[in-house]
Formats: sequence, C-alpha cells, structure tokens
Amino acid sequence: MTTNYLIIGSGIAGLTFAVKIAEKFPGRTVTIITKSNDDETNTKYAQGGIAVVLNNKADSFDKHVNDTLIAGDGLCDAFIVKMVVREGPKRLKELIDWGANFDTNKNGSFSLGKEGGHSEHRVLHHKDITGYEIERALFQRVNQLKNIIVLSYHFAIDLITNKCLNSTKVTDLTCYGAYVLNQKTNEILTIKAQNTILASGGIGTIYGHTTNPLIATGDGIAMANRAKAKIKDMEFIQFHPTVLLNSKKGSSFLISEAVRGFGAYLRNSKGNRFMVSYDNRAELASRDIVSQSIHKELKKTGDDCVFLDCTHLPIDVFKEKFPSIYNKCLSEEINVSKDWIPVVPAAHYLCGGVVVDMHGRTSITNLFSCGEVSRTGLHGANRLASNSLLEALVYAHNIFMFLSENNNLHSTVNVPSLNYNPAHHTEERVLIKNITKELQTIMRSHAGIVRSNDQLNRGLKELNIIYNKVEELYKTSKITTSLCELRNMINTAYLIINQSLKRTENKGGYFNSDYETKKTLKKDRCV
Ligand code: FAD
Ligand code: SIN
Repeated sequence: MTTNYLIIGSGIAGLTFAVKIAEKFPGRTVTIITKSNDDETNTKYAQGGIAVVLNNKADSFDKHVNDTLIAGDGLCDAFIVKMVVREGPKRLKELIDWGANFDTNKNGSFSLGKEGGHSEHRVLHHKDITGYEIERALFQRVNQLKNIIVLSYHFAIDLITNKCLNSTKVTDLTCYGAYVLNQKTNEILTIKAQNTILASGGIGTIYGHTTNPLIATGDGIAMANRAKAKIKDMEFIQFHPTVLLNSKKGSSFLISEAVRGFGAYLRNSKGNRFMVSYDNRAELASRDIVSQSIHKELKKTGDDCVFLDCTHLPIDVFKEKFPSIYNKCLSEEINVSKDWIPVVPAAHYLCGGVVVDMHGRTSITNLFSCGEVSRTGLHGANRLASNSLLEALVYAHNIFMFLSENNNLHSTVNVPSLNYNPAHHTEERVLIKNITKELQTIMRSHAGIVRSNDQLNRGLKELNIIYNKVEELYKTSKITTSLCELRNMINTAYLIINQSLKRTENKGGYFNSDYETKKTLKKDRCV
C-alpha cells in the first residue's frame, strides 16, 4: 500500500494534520492508522480544556508565556513557548470552524477556566469532557473528506527507514512509511509513504496507575528509538495530583485540575489544607509541585490518599461544570456536596519525547512528529496545564505549512516485507499480562514521583531481566499487539530510567532524593 501521508494516531495531533492537508490537497491520499477503535485516544479523555489567550484585558500573551516558563522550571525553549502561545487564538478558531463547541457565559463570551500554574482564567472547555468534544468535531470533519482513509485496528509495528533497506551503514536516515499489523486479519502490511507523521500519543500505561487509556504504551517513542531518531527529556513524567483513589482496580479516573481552579481545597486526613505550607499558590501551584507535595504528605501521615474538598462550593454550578466528575463520584458513593473525594497522584503526561524542530521535523528525513509523542521544547521540565491540546494544534499546523511549502512527493523506493517468521503461532497471553504487571511495578517503585539513583539502578537491573524474556518471546512467538506493546513499553522504560540517571539536579517533574539538598526551593518558582 502506498500513500502520500501516513499518519500514525487518531488523536488531536493526527486528525488536525489530516484535515488540513486533505483540505488543501484533495488529489493526495492521507492514511490514518490507529490501533484501537477510531477515537480511543488520550485526547478523548481530556477534561480541563485548551489554554488560549482570548481575554486581552485581563490576560496577555506575555502572561501565558511567563506561566509556561515558570511551570517548565527553566528548561522550556522560550522561542517555542512564544510561538505556540501566539498561534493559539488562530488555531483555536479553526477548531471552532470545524464544529467544536466550547462553553460560553450568559453574555456569549467564552467561559474561561483556571488551572494550576495559570495566573489568569484562560482555559476553554466543554464541560468536563473537552477532549471528547474535540475528537467528535475532528472526526466529523475527517469523515467529510474523501481523500482521508482511516484504518482502525491497525497497529504500527516499526517505521521503515533506509536502515532497514540497506544493511550497510547509513548516516542520513530517511523514513519511507511503516510496517503495520492488521489486528483483525493478523496480516502484516507494508505501508509506503512519502511523509510519515508520528502522532501516537503518550506512555501512561507503563506505570499502570495512570489517567491514560490502555492504548498509551509509548509505541511511537519505541519505534522512533529503534529507528534511531533523537529522543529527549524522558525523565520528565508528569504525575497528575488528583486521580480518584481506587485501591482495587488502580486509580485512573481524573478529577480535573479545573475543580481546584473552581475553588476546591486539598486536605490531609486531619483536615489540614497542607498545600498552603508548600507553595504560595497553594492548590493552584503547578502540577509537579502539587504531586510532590502530596507524596511528601502521604509519607508523613502514612495515609493512602489525600482529599479534595468541594463541600463549600455551589453544588448546582459544580454539577453544571463537571457533570461527569460529579456522576462518577456518585457512582462510587461519594456525594461531592458532602463528602471529600479521596485522591492520589498518577502518571498523566510525557513532557519529553521525539525531538522536533519548529516545523515538527524529527532527526529522520520525512518523519514528522506531533502531539504528546513529540518533544518540542514547549514544556521544559513540567507541562503547564491545558498546554498539550494547544501544542498539538499548533504543531499539526506547522507540519502542514512546512509540507505545503516543501512539496515532498518523491518517488517511492522498493521496500521489503517485514522480516518475520510466520510459522510462529504461539501466543503467550498470560505471560505477556504478567510481565506487563511486573514492568508497571518496576516503574512505580523505581521511577515514580520521587526517585533515587539507587532505585533507578535497581530498576535497570529488573528491566534487564524482563527485557531478555520479552526479546526471546518476540523472536519465537506470533506478532501480536500486546506483545509489541510490551516490547515498546520496556524500550520506553529504559529511556525513562537511563535519561533520569543522566540528570543530576532536580527540575520540574524530575525529583531525585539524592539531590534534595541541592534543589532550588520550590517556593522560588512562585509568582
Ligand atoms: P492521543 O490523543 O493519545 O492519540 C494517540 C493515537 O495514536 C491513538 O489513536 C492511538 O491508538 C494511536 N497509536 C498509538 N500507538 C499506535 C500504534 N503502534 N499503531 C497505531 N496507532 C497507534 N491536555 C490538555 O491540554 N488539556 C486537558 O484538559 C487535558 N486533560 C487530560 C485528561 C486526561 C484524562 C488525559 C489522559 C490527558 C489529558 N490531557 C490534557 C493531555 C492530552 O489529552 C494529550 O496529551 C493529547 O490529547 C495527546 O494527543 P495526541 O494526538 O498526541 O495523542
Ligand atoms: C485536567 O483537566 O486536570 C487535565 C488538564 C491537563 O492535563 O492539561
């Protein structure tokens, strides 16, 4: 199969690029592959919203830039931050033109929420299901464009580069598409593409306890790593502070930061508003600070969770703003008007990833990367809330602009099929499940909110053991999605641990207890 544009992923990043390029070039083919049903993405679960400066009286681009830089703890690329923030209103307008609806006030202006690290109200939202609304609108537009093909249940196994085509040493890498498993027929396809856009999202499943859906297994990071693309900042995993405690199933349901923006308090089991003693911004400090503070608080008290107290908030407005959070809590017998919500931090977002320039170009020719899988320089050591959807919109546009102006429609090369032994029929489902659990335990205990060099090194040793088991399985068993995902998660886990070991000071979402004494006081980052 041959296509002009192969897009791996159907979240906000992949779909936005697809719509733009397909609209501009109706004669060209745009193929989106996605490994689950069409809309199963991190995007679909986004709650809080998109940060965009619209209220020019109270807010300004400079304020949003400044908040992003403070959240990123000195490691953002200031040029990129300015570019993304300034592009925000234009990119948002396009999303609205494609049919996405955002909540408005009685006077018709957009209702703007506030989240941690933001000095102003600037987060556009659709109740507490903003991502669901964005996916809906983008798919509606995708389905109107005849030159877009969406292949659901198609799993990208590996990128095709000149390294796969040529056994001799290549220095300038070029991408020619991807090997893809049709998950329904088990056929392995070779999809040749003139341009490949990696929009494969995040990695939360590596930790088990995560806000991310199961599809977030770091496939794009692992594929890019195997293809020798540059990957950076993998130590900066963002843990969201307020995930509904579920000791049996593992906590995964997010209680949006917008709830704290609406005035909810964090309390420990004694009822103390502990955030006041950690940061001047209290509950609205940036996410790294709140998660690390909760971690310290739990260590002090020995409790399993802290609590989000909404009991002083107007319940009618709460229900209107956060209907799915309200109902989810009710289904767990928590009435937010009377009960505190038990919450814990959980893995939420990968700040690092595949390195791209401002046009979304990776270090491999004809391979672009967009959305959570990419590392643009916007987030530095910690992403500011609601900057991720914004980043995906802006970079999808930048890649589109680059490819519109630099017409890369070279003739395709001959690509061999994936070197794979189809005689392998064994499917080791139970083993794969068990090793996945082992991996998640390793990552939670050795590469979590607070790390140490000793723990990281122990994590590496434990990873080596499961790596060997899984590589052996990969050589001898049938290629399945879960086996490939496990292999990718292990690959990504290595990057997280190895890049953590290379960082020798605490920054943003990276906290290593060996460097505690050297650490800048978090309060220094207060506005
Ligand atoms: P995704 O939306 O995750 O899409 C990835 C796609 O890649 C999926 O279609 C997946 O199937 C596909 N894929 C992956 N691997 C393969 C493979 N091997 N083969 C084929 N397909 C593959 N950010 C904000 O800015 N504001 C918010 O309010 C917000 N709230 C959030 C709430 C939750 C619960 C979560 C989980 C995240 C939230 N985020 C928020 C973060 C944000 O939603 C994500 O970072 C963003 O949506 C990522 O978009 P994406 O297009 O890069 O990836
Ligand atoms: C949230 O709603 O708390 C998530 C926002 C984000 O991840 O940006």
